Amino acid sequence: MTYRITLLPGDGIGPEIARVARAVIEHTASLSGFSVRFEERAFGGASIDRYGEPLTDETLAACQAGDAVFLGAVGGPKWDNAPSRPEAGLLALRQALGVYANLRPASVHPALADKSPLRPDIVAGTDLLIVRELTGGIYFGERERTADKASDKCTYSRAEIERVARVAFEQARLRRGKLTSVDKANVLETSRLWRTVVSEMGTRDYPDIELDHMYVDAAAMHLLRAPASFDVLLTENMFGDILSDEASMLPGSIGLLGSASLGDAKPGLFEPIHGSAPDIAGQDKANPFGAIEAAAQLLVSLGEAGAATRVRGAVDAMHEAGEWTGDLGGTLTCSQTGVKLVERLERQAVAA
Ligand code: IPM
Ligand code: MN
Repeated sequence: MTYRITLLPGDGIGPEIARVARAVIEHTASLSGFSVRFEERAFGGASIDRYGEPLTDETLAACQAGDAVFLGAVGGPKWDNAPSRPEAGLLALRQALGVYANLRPASVHPALADKSPLRPDIVAGTDLLIVRELTGGIYFGERERTADKASDKCTYSRAEIERVARVAFEQARLRRGKLTSVDKANVLETSRLWRTVVSEMGTRDYPDIELDHMYVDAAAMHLLRAPASFDVLLTENMFGDILSDEASMLPGSIGLLGSASLGDAKPGLFEPIHGSAPDIAGQDKANPFGAIEAAAQLLVSLGEAGAATRVRGAVDAMHEAGEWTGDLGGTLTCSQTGVKLVERLERQAVAA
């Protein structure tokens, strides 16, 4: 079996961490008995520099033709005043691929409990998953701007809420059976519809799932007060963007988190949740574990769950050995982290 993966390294530290993710996928593939073919394309700022736009039709077609898309990161101050921003390419890609459900897991490895800015006793045992709606809401609403007035419209349909909620309920079933739906139903009409639809689905289709509803401001607080009390959180697009950056601090570094964006069909889009970190770009300092976790999620989407488990096992072993990049107090460079991980994968394969 040969899978086709479109690789969009992007900007800033994107190429550095994407290189590591690619090597990890290639090595696990050969150890697991399948093969992968990567097709690399410029995306985001890199594509603006080359083609004048962040996502060309050719790149989109390449993404749509493959089995999965891996993205490094996009954006940077260089393009802040560009006519079309790198981020616009990412939003267009998400929409064109129809990846409406964005899965952002955050768990605290015991060896990392003292790396979090929160007390170890607070973060211990945290293992949560944010399911963020990704192709609707205020991100994609009508925008207006005059010199003195601006507006961004937030709209959600029942169908948009149902399909992402279904993903969240199903994930809860695979995990600890608890779902917290986040909204601002005390103020927003979209949130009132959100709460109604999710409640109906809970009663009708998922009576086995323990469902509760929480206002987004309270959720932001409880994420810091008692993060281990959450299992799956379901959010609309903007709330999930904000809460997932907050949640990324629980394990100690935003560099650790990966994400999967999924629709009804292949390909999914896989990326670390961090940005392009232009301040450390090109210095081989970036933490590639988030990209590696995204690679593991990509392998799961291909139906290669065993390969994903091997990758995560090797990551855990590195955490236990304290083999980290500088953001976690370690001494490894980004590329050294990749080399160590591949060595561990190979050792595991020999031992197995
Ligand atoms: C993310 C990012 C993007 C978002 C930006 C780069 C458009 O912050 O993936 O969380 O807001 O969705
Ligand atoms: Mn974000």
